[in-house]
Amino acid sequence: MVQHVEGLQPGAYHYLPLNHELEFLHPVEDLPAVISDTLVGQSWANKASVVFYYSFVPYRAEWRYGIWAHRVVLIDAGHVGQNLYLACAALGLGTCAVAAFDMELSDQIFGLDGEEEYTIYTFPVGTISATDKKEEKAFYQFVEDEGL
Ligand SMILES: Cc1cc2nc3c(=O)[nH]c(=O)nc-3n(C[C@H](O)[C@H](O)[C@H](O)COP(=O)(O)O)c2cc1C
Repeated sequence: MVQHVEGLQPGAYHYLPLNHELEFLHPVEDLPAVISDTLVGQSWANKASVVFYYSFVPYRAEWRYGIWAHRVVLIDAGHVGQNLYLACAALGLGTCAVAAFDMELSDQIFGLDGEEEYTIYTFPVGTISATDKKEEKAFYQFVEDEGL
């Protein structure tokens, strides 16, 4: 979900990993409210520049891993989320893993049927305010002080 990104129309997008491209799906009315509603009222995320909604297609894991598919997928979701944290850190952006989301509402927005494909993880991403950066620097001062 794109809200504030230079050069991109706000709205719902679909990431195409094989081509590393974005497919525009549709505009979304009242984005801050939709973001908050899909994240079950976590309104701190309203001003995110982008919110990632990761979806899962069970068949793609189950044909190969059978009853262990759930284990593989949990590990995979962790990898994907951690990589987003790394990308954000590299770009000087902020993110937070959000597992408290409304699956039905998120699925509805992205046209997912809730069975063959459904939302499993969400991540608001945004710039970090100067005040937050200052507070973070102060919080981690002990790392420098102790030469860690
Ligand atoms: C799987 C998972 C789900 C999370 N869901 C939420 C969430 O719904 N809302 C939220 O504010 N933070 C959520 N977090 C972030 C955690 O509350 C916490 O801020 C983060 O793991 C960093 O922890 P730390 O501050 O102790 O290092 C989630 C984290 C993980 C790993």
